[in-house]
Amino acid sequence: MTTSIDAQYQQYLNAGLTLDLTRGKPCSDQLDLSDTLEDMIGGNFKTADGIDVRNYGGLLGIPEARALGGALLDVDPKYIMAGGNSSLTLMYQFLVWRLKAWQADDPAQTFKFICVVPGYDRHFTICEHLGIEMVSVGFDSNGPNLTDIEALVRQDQTIKGIWCVPKHSNPTGHTYSDETVARLANLPSLASKDFILMWDNAYAAHDLDPQARPLSNIMAYAQAVQTADHIALFASTSKITFAGAGLAFCGLSEPMLKGFETFLTPQMIGFDKVNQLRHARLLSGKDDIAKHMAAHRTILEPKFRRVQEKLRPLADAGLATWSQPGGGYFVSLDLKIASATRVIALADAAGVKLTPAGATFPYGRDPEDKNIRIAPSFPDMIALDQALDVLVCCIVKASEINH
Ligand SMILES: Cc1ncc(COP(=O)(O)O)c(C=O)c1O
Repeated sequence: MTTSIDAQYQQYLNAGLTLDLTRGKPCSDQLDLSDTLEDMIGGNFKTADGIDVRNYGGLLGIPEARALGGALLDVDPKYIMAGGNSSLTLMYQFLVWRLKAWQADDPAQTFKFICVVPGYDRHFTICEHLGIEMVSVGFDSNGPNLTDIEALVRQDQTIKGIWCVPKHSNPTGHTYSDETVARLANLPSLASKDFILMWDNAYAAHDLDPQARPLSNIMAYAQAVQTADHIALFASTSKITFAGAGLAFCGLSEPMLKGFETFLTPQMIGFDKVNQLRHARLLSGKDDIAKHMAAHRTILEPKFRRVQEKLRPLADAGLATWSQPGGGYFVSLDLKIASATRVIALADAAGVKLTPAGATFPYGRDPEDKNIRIAPSFPDMIALDQALDVLVCCIVKASEINH
């Protein structure tokens, strides 16, 4: 028997759509906000204290760019390395450095990392690529489940670290509570002696709701409990300026920063300081960043609101729940029945690309096959509307098949 949902789905199949809700990329209107980056040099290649940015040197970055990183990560610029165009590269390099140290101590050992799920697929890919085993831990509205995490790190010395996206988490949009941040800062004192907390603050400035819960300063807590050498902060301007040509930052205690700089030295003489200067002139303090991010919000907020509106029938039908992020780039949708693989295949056949089922879990395996990540930033409103209509149709259709 053909149901009305089958007929609707058939219409989408016939429409020849090509829509994409996969990666969290800024749309062209957002990229346009930073076009004046191009005018920031204007023949003046010197930093305030006279460094010629066209030349070699300065692996930690120019002072102005380190100040920008300090503003984003809420720490003194002396703790900051301003890098190239990707924080992911810095995270990867940082873990290669740490892995070498762990292996030097214990060459035969396999090491593990705690992954908060659902989480960011590329963190998991880094672990897989480096042969680091992943242990999944869930979370609630305050952040990761710390009771589980504390028990795990106490009992297993091969657990060497944890991935955290503390603000507007990818994909759920959560921001960790103050108590969670304080307990996480203390975690290294319960764990293996060279434990590292990867604090990927990619969405530090990306509030959709100006009243969004602020994030507490983990470095301040860590300094108070003497765990600062175990905290590695990361951020970038990928979703502030140009996603492919921004600036990345790493924040570390002074001894760790020195060690990481020494590790990187054989690989490069310095990052792109011309781009660092451009960025530092465009965003020369917290006020500039706030103004710039308010312009992003004007573009992004209606798209995120539309996701909430379009998904509403699924709540009425009891077919799914989803996050209501106060910022960031994603909405995390959980189906009531295990059918994410089926929904994503149905959408794909109808021309709507979604992030593969399981991508938000280590090894690409969602044990419940229920989570779907929605990235609404890139499509225009018309494409977003169409893609969400198709997604809703596919979820209803999959639920009928499963009954
Ligand atoms: C949590 C998180 N970290 C890092 C990145 C990538 O950052 P970058 O462009 O600086 O490498 C992303 C991109 O989606 C992200 O969601």
